Amino acid sequence: MSHEVPPEERESYVLRLHEQLLEMEQRLIPIGLHVFGEANQNHAADILQAIAGFDRPEMGVRSLPSLIAEGPGLREPQELAALVREAIAIFLAEGLVPDRAVEFLARTAHVTEQQSRNVFALLARVARGLSRNQEVDSLMRALRGEYIEPGPGADIVQNPEILPTGRNTHAVNPYAIPSVAAFRKAEPVVAALLRRSLGERGRYPETIGMVLWGMDNIKSQGEGVAQALLLMGVEPRRDALNRVTDVDVIPLERLGRPRIDLVLTVSGIFRDLFGTSVEVLDRAARRVAALDEPDELNFVRKHVGHEQRGGASFEDSATRVFSNAPGNYGANVNFMVTDGQWERAEEIGDLFITRKCFAFGRGLDGNRSRELMEQALSRVELTYQNIDSAEVGITDVDHYFEYLGGMTQAVEVRSGHRPDVYLSDSLSAEPRIRSLSEVVRLETRTKTLNPKWYEGMLKHGFSGVAEIEHHVTNTFGWSATAGAVDEWIYDEIAGRFILDSAMLQRLRSMNPYAARSLAARLIEAHGRGFWDPGAEVMDQLHDALGGLEDQIECAGMGGNR
Ligand code: BEZ
Ligand code: MG
Repeated sequence: MSHEVPPEERESYVLRLHEQLLEMEQRLIPIGLHVFGEANQNHAADILQAIAGFDRPEMGVRSLPSLIAEGPGLREPQELAALVREAIAIFLAEGLVPDRAVEFLARTAHVTEQQSRNVFALLARVARGLSRNQEVDSLMRALRGEYIEPGPGADIVQNPEILPTGRNTHAVNPYAIPSVAAFRKAEPVVAALLRRSLGERGRYPETIGMVLWGMDNIKSQGEGVAQALLLMGVEPRRDALNRVTDVDVIPLERLGRPRIDLVLTVSGIFRDLFGTSVEVLDRAARRVAALDEPDELNFVRKHVGHEQRGGASFEDSATRVFSNAPGNYGANVNFMVTDGQWERAEEIGDLFITRKCFAFGRGLDGNRSRELMEQALSRVELTYQNIDSAEVGITDVDHYFEYLGGMTQAVEVRSGHRPDVYLSDSLSAEPRIRSLSEVVRLETRTKTLNPKWYEGMLKHGFSGVAEIEHHVTNTFGWSATAGAVDEWIYDEIAGRFILDSAMLQRLRSMNPYAARSLAARLIEAHGRGFWDPGAEVMDQLHDALGGLEDQIECAGMGGNR
């Protein structure tokens, strides 16, 4: 991986490197699995630090890094982070009594006592919630048919009120989606997405293919929905009961950019939970398509007009919301990829469309609309999904490559180009947009290849090894669907988990099945042309796989598993 950096670029190179290291260091990395009934306190300090990083005007709480930054003297981000970490360590060491931490922040950063106390009052509530676990009790009560106290479902950083766990999780009022806060948070994210794309292409993307999930929009109170509305240049209209049932058009002068066209692929869960949002999104697309505005400032109108001149109806050409057939869920791309059931990459995109080509909105109820979806996807230049939770990233579960990867592959064949693929991270204090390859690298470095992460997993034995294997397979899913995995990633995974004989021995003693799948996946990655480590490494991988298969076969015959 070594390459020479010309002397005149060294300084900016080192700066970029520094920023990347900081980005990795500051990520909240889940350690180990949640064990039902056990309080998870092994990274309480990390969670408190992440929570302290956000302004929460509704609670009268400011973010600690911004309070510290207002003190005298310019401070580097890592210096801010170090002071926050220190203050939280003091607070925890004092058994959640804030006095010494408050005094520390007043002395080192001139943070006022009242501001500090507000923050620590919130953190004390969170720490107490983390240390309490009533999951087993609640389950027993539920089995006896007794009452269980309700609690919100959300990401812990976005909404610490989810603690304690083991309550009766309630979702959202679908009419409240998107919330005022979600809409406000969507503005800088959409601006960052368009700025990034503009910077890379020199013009705005005319059509964005976007994925919306149900759970994520619960966690964020509809940030994804808000982003979709904003991209088209509309805002939610709230009726007398504060329900979002319609939209208002944001005038072009205020928008300051063209209205972006969309293709929305919503999950089956989203379709079921957010029927009103589906109607609102569909109505927004048709409203925008009918505006009397120049084509170069309204890409929805431009594309709909183009289709209409080709003979399509207005309603058909303005269809923008697609999901599964009623009663069906999932694109199944994950199963096709993990089971190796494909030969040509285009089969992946075909499956995605077969599963997701049912149109919704204006009482459509899921008409099968394959041609409309293919037509819409053929215009997509950029695919995108909002990441709403620190706890689930794009290599943690197979659903991200199932959806975003599946859509990307479908677009590539139909548009003739691989689209740019972006993810947002609404969990950092400033909105961040990263390309898919950047996120794959970041997750690989902070999770799959990070000893802090995989040693945490290995403490769980059998299921920990399975988690590591899942991450490798999900990473492979990004090669299969979007060609977004650098070869060094496979080199490092092979080196860390299979070619290192001590590590291989640990994995095989805990879970030879997952170890076998991991080795086989690396060999498959080579076979499909995603990676070429050379004959020597391939021989070693085949040897390891052979050894694992022998071990499993013996165990099976000996019956001593
Ligand atoms: C959803 O919440 O919409 C969802 C959950 C799991 C997989 C895919 C989508
Ligand atoms: Mg699943």
